[in-house]
Amino acid sequence: MSLDVTVQTAEINFKKYPVPRVRHHSNPQVYLPAHQAQKDLEWYPPVIAQPSWDEFFQNGRSADVLDIGCGRGGFLLSHALNHPEMNILGVEVRNMLVDWTNKVIAGENIPNAHVVWYSMANGLQWIPSNSINYATYLFPDPWPKRRHKKRRAFTLEFLDELSRVLKPNGKLYLATDRPEVASHQHELIDESVTFELVDVITEPLLENSWPFIFKTDQQRFSERKGIPYTYSIASNVRQ
Ligand SMILES: C[S@@+](CC[C@H](N)C(=O)[O-])C[C@H]1O[C@@H](n2cnc3c(N)ncnc32)[C@H](O)[C@@H]1O
Repeated sequence: MSLDVTVQTAEINFKKYPVPRVRHHSNPQVYLPAHQAQKDLEWYPPVIAQPSWDEFFQNGRSADVLDIGCGRGGFLLSHALNHPEMNILGVEVRNMLVDWTNKVIAGENIPNAHVVWYSMANGLQWIPSNSINYATYLFPDPWPKRRHKKRRAFTLEFLDELSRVLKPNGKLYLATDRPEVASHQHELIDESVTFELVDVITEPLLENSWPFIFKTDQQRFSERKGIPYTYSIASNVRQ
């Protein structure tokens, strides 16, 4: 896949959508699976059983692309505008960001983008098998410290589940500005029987296999601050 068009979100007048003040972290319990978190708390995202695809996307079909931990949604919006042929589903645990991005999507009438309020800790069982072309997991985990590892969504179980929903040879695109998170991801991919690491790009050189020309909000932040980041690409090897 390579993109030769770029519709940037500059086409959207964001002044129409005041950005809410969002805390950097949610309650740490939202990063735990529902059965481990305190019960019946209004701030815990619903565990999705049966998604309403026809409410998510105007064509009523299920998602083609997953943007896991989509944050403020800058990448998701560019992605959807550049790829009207695919349904782009964002998954985000911070409710205010979900509401805001969905407000922009509705206000701009973008038919192929939607964000669900959901914690990845609860898996992807609601996504049909072999349905996703590729997934992005960009600058994802706010938990770089080893002692916070259990709050990271990136686990062997996650890779297994992702492999089930991805089409054969479907790609998982990763980016992080935390070297320890990149190492952790590479170790788990090595350990996994469902994915193999196909590329690691430490310099965003012009000639590389990273297919996206639009940037994420966190990537812009890292670039402004001069923080280097790593791109990694893994391929689904499940037969
Ligand atoms: C640093 S931000 C990056 C956002 C965006 N991908 C970007 O690059 O600009 C990481 C996002 O992942 C979300 N996140 C972290 N753990 C999550 C989980 N278990 N389920 C869903 N979203 C999660 C956070 O709430 C946050 O918005």
